[in-house]
Amino acid sequence: MSFRIQPAAPARPNRCQLFGPGSKVKLFEKMAASAADVINLDLEDSVAPDDKDQARTNVIEAINSVDWGNKYLSVRINGLDTPYWYRDVVDILEQAGERLDQIMIPKVGCAEDVYAVDALVTAIERAKGRSKPVSFEVIIESAAGIAHAEEIAKSSPRLQAMSLGAADFAASMGMQTTGIGGTQENYYMIREGQKHWSDPWHWAQAAIVAACRTHGILPVDGPFGDFSDEDGYIAQAKRSATLGMVGKWAIHPSQIALANQVFTPSDEAVAEAREILAAMEEAKASGAGATVYKGRLVDIASIKQAEVIVAQAELIAGS
Ligand code: COA
Ligand code: MG
Repeated sequence: MSFRIQPAAPARPNRCQLFGPGSKVKLFEKMAASAADVINLDLEDSVAPDDKDQARTNVIEAINSVDWGNKYLSVRINGLDTPYWYRDVVDILEQAGERLDQIMIPKVGCAEDVYAVDALVTAIERAKGRSKPVSFEVIIESAAGIAHAEEIAKSSPRLQAMSLGAADFAASMGMQTTGIGGTQENYYMIREGQKHWSDPWHWAQAAIVAACRTHGILPVDGPFGDFSDEDGYIAQAKRSATLGMVGKWAIHPSQIALANQVFTPSDEAVAEAREILAAMEEAKASGAGATVYKGRLVDIASIKQAEVIVAQAELIAGS
């Protein structure tokens, strides 16, 4: 480990973030009753320009009146390149009560984007005497966002989470696809005449995980558009979990259980992690730094790997 210790990410479950348009009032109670850890009420791209004002009003009303239970409650504001975002921040921070936990900032391209929102939020919190500081989540969904992911990850003490937004990311990068996450038909290798599909989102996800882990932020996988494709969603989510992400968005209720299942370490994985920890305790007691577990090497690094799984399971069980 570097002399600079890696900070821990916020200790709250973030397995599934359920989105719903701020214009669809009838969804709010269903979202609150769902099994998602995080609720994202959307003012941005799922709301048509003519509905922006009404959606903002709906969301403020819902934050104040719906029973959100123990959900982490977030509002996605409009991007900083629009005429809407400042009104989103001002009206929400002034009119919504302390139940609001988080503001999600889309299409962040540089640390200054976060700085600008932070300055406005901080001024309103002081003016209104809000006792609970609102946290931030950002979406990395542009070439600039991924190029500056590390500086964005350290841009504000409010920042708790960073998601990859596959659709806008693909558009900004000039990728030849209209798919939102998952396998892309033309992204394959050929070996002995057989096609093998690869993962075009992999490097962006890994870059986000590295930026987040460096600065103690939760890395999250974004939307998977084809909500009729359960296997595709699960495969994408498993790859994200394997890379270090803690959760994934749901854009339809059918995806919530899938995310919760993938991002909750299985009983078998937890049992194996505990066995590795026990095997290493035994090894340490006999003065060894490494031992054999089920025919494979485990050493002091294995302790840290096993602890990641046990800690995640305990965090979720305790929530
Ligand atoms: N949250 C909670 N409940 C939802 C929901 C959501 N996001 N989306 C749909 N439902 C409910 C429906 O109201 C319906 O409930 P009912 O059985 O009581 O009638 C049920 O789930 C089945 O819905 P379905 O008919 O399959 O979906 P739809 O055609 O009504 O809506 C979408 C499909 C994709 C338009 C809708 O799910 C949606 O708006 N998703 C969120 C989009 C979004 O926020 N995007 C921004 C982030 S990328
Ligand atoms: Mg987007």
